Amino acid sequence: MTFMPNSPEARDIASFIHPQTNPRAHEKTGPTIIAKGDGIWVEDSEGKRVLDASAGLWCASLGFAANERIARVAYDQMRKLGYYQTYRHHSNDPVIDLTEKLLKLAPVPMSKVLLQCSGSEANDTAIKLIWYYHHAIGKPQKKTIIGRMAGYHGNTVAAASLSGKPDMHADFGIPLPMMRHTEFPHWYRNHLDGESEEAFATRMAEALDKMIVAEGPETVAAFFAEPVMGAGGAIVPPRTYFEKIQAVLRKHDVLFIADEVICGFGRTGNWWGSQTYDLKPDMVSCAKALSAAFQPISALLINEKIYQAMLIEGDKQGNFAHGYTYAGHPVAAAVALETLKIYEETDIVGHARTVGPRLIAGVRKLADHPIVGHADGVGLIAGLEIVADKAARRAHPQEVKIGAIMDQCARKNGLVVRVIGNRIALSPPLIITAAEIDELLLRLGRTLDDVEAAVRAQ
Ligand SMILES: Cc1ncc(COP(=O)(O)O)c(C=O)c1O
Repeated sequence: MTFMPNSPEARDIASFIHPQTNPRAHEKTGPTIIAKGDGIWVEDSEGKRVLDASAGLWCASLGFAANERIARVAYDQMRKLGYYQTYRHHSNDPVIDLTEKLLKLAPVPMSKVLLQCSGSEANDTAIKLIWYYHHAIGKPQKKTIIGRMAGYHGNTVAAASLSGKPDMHADFGIPLPMMRHTEFPHWYRNHLDGESEEAFATRMAEALDKMIVAEGPETVAAFFAEPVMGAGGAIVPPRTYFEKIQAVLRKHDVLFIADEVICGFGRTGNWWGSQTYDLKPDMVSCAKALSAAFQPISALLINEKIYQAMLIEGDKQGNFAHGYTYAGHPVAAAVALETLKIYEETDIVGHARTVGPRLIAGVRKLADHPIVGHADGVGLIAGLEIVADKAARRAHPQEVKIGAIMDQCARKNGLVVRVIGNRIALSPPLIITAAEIDELLLRLGRTLDDVEAAVRAQ
């Protein structure tokens, strides 16, 4: 069956297949049609303007409409070379320039870059290279990969398996059998009475150590982590967490992959979350702000030892049999390169570091609100936990449907936030100004008042 574009039937199908939504809810209301963007604002088809404090899906770092420069680069590149593949020893100028740039920016010395179209693909590539590497060095039994409960690494089969979100696994036939999930390092929710962040971090590292020992270190290949957990609720790591986790990984000879898909390119106030938390990964995956989300592109940065393994396996197999049609797409690469130039010229990272504390201070102040149990963040990413009982750190029961209430109240106040369970996550476009942060906080405060009133009225 075919539908005319934009017919009600076509829109219905579009809404039905939209991911991460309840199809039933969409059947009732249909999607909100976003018509245009302007800086940190978007406008729907009815003309309602809202401040998108999520940057779409943590990605629209430069706002929702490309500037003249980025649009021009895309246009020119399409006219010059609108597509070519990077298989069989082909490349193109934007790809070479972009990969060289990424290697210069890398948080730790890296050797090569593999381009794909999404964060999920970058992480899937990393997973395959982890196994390839261990074959190359004669340890093929090292297969187990550890993620974290509530961690998020994407939606392809392997990346979703690695993600620690049960609703992403249930009845989808995953996780893959070699994936494990260690503790959710959410200090506020999971600390024992009187347990400091440092003591909690020690307990998290001990849990990882125990898991590796129980599995048999000779079978554990790698550990993945987001520097700040995004889809887990915008959760900053407890103090000393990564220092202790990395010591465990080193002890057991386990590779570390930093998933910088959200944190890369300024989100935490540095170019990389790995710099903010002193991470020393073997591979770094990134996407989203890499192209300010104006083109679908991701990158996996790998260190020299992983590259050497590719050479060894390439010799053994006679071929490096991995790639994608659109990997190294010249238009996407040109847009990403221009985006990185704009970041440097406008010092977007310095800007995030300058205005970020205003957001974080404002959010922390909102922890005094009667319904907020905890609020924290770093750079331009923050999360607030909404609770029924502050003293007991108790969440609302399911039947309250706190998530739907938060979503509705935010929209009523002209604000888009990411609601994750009982948390509100904020990750505005990196171009947000100090005045716009104040506006965001004002709308967020009103949203919290409305949520409180709506819960009380139930
Ligand atoms: C940390 C992290 N990794 C990977 C992904 C997957 O990226 P994509 O949706 O581009 O496949 C996401 C998406 O939100 C993410 O937040």
